[in-house]
Amino acid sequence: MQFPRDFLWGTATSSYQIEGAANEDGKGKSIWDVFTHAPGTVKDRSNGDVAIDHYHRFREDIRLMAKMGIRNYRFSISWGRILPDGTGTVNEKGLAFYSELVDCLLENGIRPFCTLYHWDLPYALHLRGGWLSPDMPEWFANYTTIVADALGDRVKDFITINEPQCIIGSGYALGVHAPGLKCCAADIVRAAHHLMLAHGRAVQVLRAHVPGVRVGYAPCGDPCVPYTNSPEDIAAAREEYFTVHIDEKVGPAWNIAWFSDPVMLGQYPADGLVGYEQYLPDGWQEDLKTIHQPLDFYGQNIYQGQWWRRGADGKPEHVRYPAGHPHNALEWPINEGGLYWGPRFLYERYHTPILITENGMDAHDAVSLDGKVHDPNRQDYMHRYLRALGQAVADGVPVLGYFYWSFFDNFEWAHGYQERFGLVYVNYQTQERILKDSAYWYQQVMATNGENL
Ligand code: FCB
Repeated sequence: MQFPRDFLWGTATSSYQIEGAANEDGKGKSIWDVFTHAPGTVKDRSNGDVAIDHYHRFREDIRLMAKMGIRNYRFSISWGRILPDGTGTVNEKGLAFYSELVDCLLENGIRPFCTLYHWDLPYALHLRGGWLSPDMPEWFANYTTIVADALGDRVKDFITINEPQCIIGSGYALGVHAPGLKCCAADIVRAAHHLMLAHGRAVQVLRAHVPGVRVGYAPCGDPCVPYTNSPEDIAAAREEYFTVHIDEKVGPAWNIAWFSDPVMLGQYPADGLVGYEQYLPDGWQEDLKTIHQPLDFYGQNIYQGQWWRRGADGKPEHVRYPAGHPHNALEWPINEGGLYWGPRFLYERYHTPILITENGMDAHDAVSLDGKVHDPNRQDYMHRYLRALGQAVADGVPVLGYFYWSFFDNFEWAHGYQERFGLVYVNYQTQERILKDSAYWYQQVMATNGENL
């Protein structure tokens, strides 16, 4: 496959999932610190207190990345390490950690991509309303200013918010992620609006404080994949992908267009407004000007895909997977068409270069008798998905890069440590790292710029 010469091959992680050191060096508690310690929240009753201890082992970890040929690394900052109360006094030790991490990456020839918010909201801000509070956009802008001033001389690539749909959908609608709320549709719409406003404010701050900054947003969503390549099925999949269905229970929590049109186009989708305009806070039209900031790339986390076709009644029709359809260990169906049609449909609608900020597969990996970790399923998953992405590139979609989720096995939120997404196996008892077969395979992909796919 042919990828652009400057294609960004990388891997991704997030603070709470790898750092550990939950109560060290002045860090404030996040909603995840509190949530994971409450009974019944995490499947294996684990938490991120220690995780893979990256906070203490980051130098070795980055050397391992460099050895593997990784040139781009997406990590996130724990807001509460820098501002233990979310606002107010800065914790210099927390800032120093990220500054040293960035230096270490650069010394190892790795370009840092910094995500400002990957779910670990300071608990103190949650107690003041969290995403339901109209003050969140300014709290976020203040935090962004501190990060931009401290790291912006060396970090030029920023992602504001990771998976807004999961933040609101899992955290505020279903209650399966921190902070564990089950809000009504009115509050969900309001929280989502504050979140997008926070994104817009952060972009403004980054542009004002970081010369030469490149900034994007990283929403998610399962692409609707046409069941066949007929024009009817393609049109039906596209229509469904961007439709906002009115759901009185979870509101627009999981929707692509609801969370992207305001950011990318400066407007809420008209079909969604029919049901949800009533819940938007006063002044929402004015806010859209702040929400809609020009972006350098439109990030997207894509793992799955769902088949859609044109139904006999003329409406898009969901095509269920047959029994035995392949899926990952979390039972997410495997459909590489998602990494072709997702970028294609998203570029058609938003006209902004796409960056795949996450894609990956979890499996029941284990160390074999030979001491190695053989993970042919992951390799096959990556191979399929990367070929689909290469085809999107060949068909004219500007895709800037691909970040595999994740470099290491780590704490997978409500699923704990049971399933593994990493290219690098982690023994959680000894903290030993072992490169899986897929890591060596991805090394070749990066080294040949995808020509071996
Ligand atoms: C995404 C999250 C990431 C990780 C992967 C598997 O939803 O952004 O932190 O958990 O899924």
